[in-house]
Amino acid sequence: MNFKGLHILITGGARGIGKATAIEFAKRGAIVGINYKSDDANALATKQLLSGTQHHLFKYDISIKEQQKELIDQFIHTYGTIDVLVNNAGISIPHALEEVSFDQWADAWTNTFQTNVFAAANLSYLAAQQMISSGGGRIINVSSRGSFRGEPTKPAYGASKAALNAMGQSLAKRLAPHQIYVGTVAPGFTETDMGAVTLTPIERENLLRESPFKRMAQPEEVAHAILFLASKEAAYCSGTIIDVNGASYLRS
Ligand SMILES: NC(=O)c1ccc[n+]([C@@H]2O[C@H](COP(=O)([O-])OP(=O)(O)OC[C@H]3O[C@@H](n4cnc5c(N)ncnc54)[C@H](OP(=O)(O)O)[C@@H]3O)[C@@H](O)[C@H]2O)c1
Repeated sequence: MNFKGLHILITGGARGIGKATAIEFAKRGAIVGINYKSDDANALATKQLLSGTQHHLFKYDISIKEQQKELIDQFIHTYGTIDVLVNNAGISIPHALEEVSFDQWADAWTNTFQTNVFAAANLSYLAAQQMISSGGGRIINVSSRGSFRGEPTKPAYGASKAALNAMGQSLAKRLAPHQIYVGTVAPGFTETDMGAVTLTPIERENLLRESPFKRMAQPEEVAHAILFLASKEAAYCSGTIIDVNGASYLRS
């Protein structure tokens, strides 16, 4: 897979799966724009790990509509085109139904959907305008195994990722005539800060027990699936959802 000279925007590209994806794209000649929300030192450290030059940091909170527009405008101002958008940034807020107040429940749904769904939808809209005018592109969404098997302590998270799956399928159909290919990667439990911060030790142990490999995914394993879907070779896979969950949840 060769991405030489292509301009790639990765939301939440400073840590975890996004960081591994940025590194793998850069190794193959891509020019990467790393979006992140708050952690400047970490974002700078990630940028310094990338092979090649011309990579930039884009500090915007994508849960805010105005900042979504500024992010895409600034990316296009910097590079001229956007060849690949990776909607990777996502949040996961525990809100088990019997354990939270109504306000906490409602806020968890609103906040989760703002980042995991509305941001991805709006960034896809904005990036697609530019891709249509430049003759094509790729949009890759990072969903989750939780969209298929349920998330009992984070139902908004599971629902948001199911919405992302459906959005990717709809856009794959709508954007095909414009040579814009849309794919989704659905990781299982992956060794990143998200897993470390949001899981209790018991949840973590249970998740590992579900894995026939008795381990979680490494971020690089998810990154490789993202790169495959973003490659020229995967054009006819548009609309697909690739599971990267080590056979821990097999859907029919
Ligand atoms: N880890 C897993 O087990 C797992 C499993 C299935 C699916 N996934 C999905 O994979 C994706 C990446 O997960 P991860 O575990 O790699 O995440 P992570 O380690 O928690 O990193 C999240 C990244 O997203 C950025 N971010 C969060 N909210 C943002 C916002 N509003 N605007 C801009 N950037 C924002 C963070 O920036 P700052 O650091 O600056 O705040 C950070 O760079 C997510 O969509 C997640 O749902 C993860």
